[in-house]
Amino acid sequence: MTHTVTPYEVTGTVDYDKLILEFGVKRIDQVLLDRITALAGTHFMLHRQYFFAHTNLDKIITALEKKEKVYLYTGRGPSGPMHLGHISSYVFIIWLQKHLGCELVFQIPDDEKFLFKEATTFDDTARWMRENLLDLVALGFDLKKTKFVINTRDASQLYKIACRVAKKTTASTVKALFGLKPEDNVGKYFYTCMQTVPAFLPTEWEGKPTQVLIPCGIDQDVHFRLTRDVAEKLGYPKPATILSKFMPSLSGDSKLSSTGEQAIWTTDGPKEVEHKIKKYAFSGGKDTIEEHRKHGGNPDIDVSFQWLSMMFEPDDRKLASLRDDYRSGKLLSGELKQVLIEKINIFLAEHQKKRKDAEKVVDQLLA
Ligand code: TYM
Repeated sequence: MTHTVTPYEVTGTVDYDKLILEFGVKRIDQVLLDRITALAGTHFMLHRQYFFAHTNLDKIITALEKKEKVYLYTGRGPSGPMHLGHISSYVFIIWLQKHLGCELVFQIPDDEKFLFKEATTFDDTARWMRENLLDLVALGFDLKKTKFVINTRDASQLYKIACRVAKKTTASTVKALFGLKPEDNVGKYFYTCMQTVPAFLPTEWEGKPTQVLIPCGIDQDVHFRLTRDVAEKLGYPKPATILSKFMPSLSGDSKLSSTGEQAIWTTDGPKEVEHKIKKYAFSGGKDTIEEHRKHGGNPDIDVSFQWLSMMFEPDDRKLASLRDDYRSGKLLSGELKQVLIEKINIFLAEHQKKRKDAEKVVDQLLA
């Protein structure tokens, strides 16, 4: 089955090898992994290839090895609550920020969500921005080294550069890259120029060419292909990317997304988590206990196992033992789900406590 992967639509079963070719990105190989490890240590999301692809990561590593200043850049579109797929990518970015000691530009494109979602108003985006910031602060971004850029609030900083980008970008390029239609509103055509700007801000701020690394899900890659093209024309360094796969939805669709009920939100309570996983999490187990004990289950298609592997079981040995026990039939699907439920509930209890404590900080960030 063919897949479609754009920032606005992910359908079909995503074939990541094919995507690497389609997007012209590279797999993170062992040589690069070793170089990152030498600089920052290891993270399970890297060696398990959750963050699996890149463009020009080697240049960033070289700059860091030479002790040059490198910025990170990522973002969040505020149109609803955050789910565990979003959180997984931020957990990695926080680790990266901490271990590389980099400053981070964090964009909140409220304009994007206003333009792309028919029913969404600026009141909605303001409300969700606050909610999302509670999560981001609770997750532990280093606020001394993180600059939040809110597109409508900080427009005076962004707009001139966005116009320079727009002047070098044709409507037909945007239409083809993002799958837009002639009847789409013109704001949708312009928006990608706004997502480009933070990749250039570090060069403006530092007053000299400054390297930027963008960690994000691979759905966002197309924006940065355009950014890289334009960078050259405007005399900025081309930004590098480090790209993750998607955490699947509970039912096993390639990408957990904000539409549909099959997501776990950062505000879900323990009973909701248990209910959703027991009811919806696609299982790689057999139909009956007898068959499962005899033939074992398939962890590769089991959503609980994938979520453990992508985010909730950082310990390689424990993960390997869950995989082996599930394959051999020693561990039942219900038991594997229970392991995940407990891990998520521990994570969320702590997160929700920190979320409450974040209120004041978020008020200050938005002041
Ligand atoms: P948004 O808000 O849709 O998503 C925020 C980040 O979460 C990633 N993501 C996922 N990662 C793994 N599994 C999933 N199921 C999953 N769902 C979402 C996204 O890839 C993204 O990295 N236009 C952007 C906001 C933005 C941005 C940026 C993102 C502005 N500048 C720079 C990354 C980098 C958006 O709406 O993302």
